[in-house]
Amino acid sequence: MTENIGERKNRHIDVAMRPSAQMAISTGLEHVRFEPNSLPELSLAEIDTSTVFLRKSLSMPLIISSMSGGTQRALTLNQALARAAEQHGIALALGSMRIALEDKTARASFQLRDLAPNIPILANLGGAQLTQGAGVDNALRCMEIAEADAMIIHLNPLQEAIQCTGDTDWRHVTKALADLVRRSSQPIIVKEVGHGIGLQTAQRLIDCGITYIDIAAAGGTSWAGIEAQVDAAAFQIGEPFHDWGIPLVASLNQLSGLTQATLIASGGIRSGLDVAKVIRLGARLAGAAQPFLLAYEAGEAILHQHIECWRAQLRIAMFATGSATLADLKCAPLIANTAC
Ligand SMILES: Cc1cc2nc3c(=O)[nH]c(=O)nc-3n(C[C@H](O)[C@H](O)[C@H](O)COP(=O)(O)O)c2cc1C
Repeated sequence: MTENIGERKNRHIDVAMRPSAQMAISTGLEHVRFEPNSLPELSLAEIDTSTVFLRKSLSMPLIISSMSGGTQRALTLNQALARAAEQHGIALALGSMRIALEDKTARASFQLRDLAPNIPILANLGGAQLTQGAGVDNALRCMEIAEADAMIIHLNPLQEAIQCTGDTDWRHVTKALADLVRRSSQPIIVKEVGHGIGLQTAQRLIDCGITYIDIAAAGGTSWAGIEAQVDAAAFQIGEPFHDWGIPLVASLNQLSGLTQATLIASGGIRSGLDVAKVIRLGARLAGAAQPFLLAYEAGEAILHQHIECWRAQLRIAMFATGSATLADLKCAPLIANTAC
């Protein structure tokens, strides 16, 4: 079983880097345009991109979204991501820790606290796993293993349904989530994997006590697309779902009125300017997965450059809109008749 999960995870990494794993539909961010402020009355040097997330300081509102863990290849990847996240002061989300529950030898790739003592580390488990066996206990265990600041539960019913051996029993997941919220002393974050969280789902999550929602919307990596390419048998069934879901901007516009939830925007974020745009649209933080995987594969130094480049882009977007802080950016004027 464990060997199969490990092999599948490695295939996911390979396929995720192909252009064909990206959605054909866009996030909608290209239609969100800031009104230029040509008299910012600020010095670029004084722009403050910092924020606090889960009681820890970040240099900018960014999470490296959940990717992998449990294999030798994932160990090297996660260690590099942890070093980069710590050095640049951004948060790190781990990939699904199911493999670590089944095989103790797979745990090292999720135990990164020594490499990243100061940043938020987020553990991760699938929603369907919450109802299997000691599901809620397992989720709490994952947080201990990773010495995490919060737990991410990913909701990916579409992906599981396309996967040949996926977990397709999603009954009672809502109740298990509510149990987890009650029993956990750490925050629970719920995310999708790139198809978006709809308004009705978000409302039900809030009713369960969930206060952080990472919409992981459509416009970036397609998990239906990855599963369809990982498995020849899944291709025919999965291919029509390649672009399934709610584009990022549509999803943010739907959910930004939900004051009970802190929103994290991800799915197709591809620059620091995109980070600025989602903050303006109501997200507290942005997240991205595939860009950091590609950068890491190009070399660890490139990964570091990539993160710094995004921070520079965010600062420039703030400067050019006259926003000294992220609070100012949230009020920066947009050009009328764009997506907002
Ligand atoms: C190689 C890879 C592995 C992933 N594994 C997980 C996972 O284990 N758990 C999870 O919640 N999301 C996982 N994701 C989904 C990402 O966290 C993210 O939601 C999705 O890729 C959309 O973001 P992107 O367009 O920036 O890639 C994975 C993504 C990639 C690229």
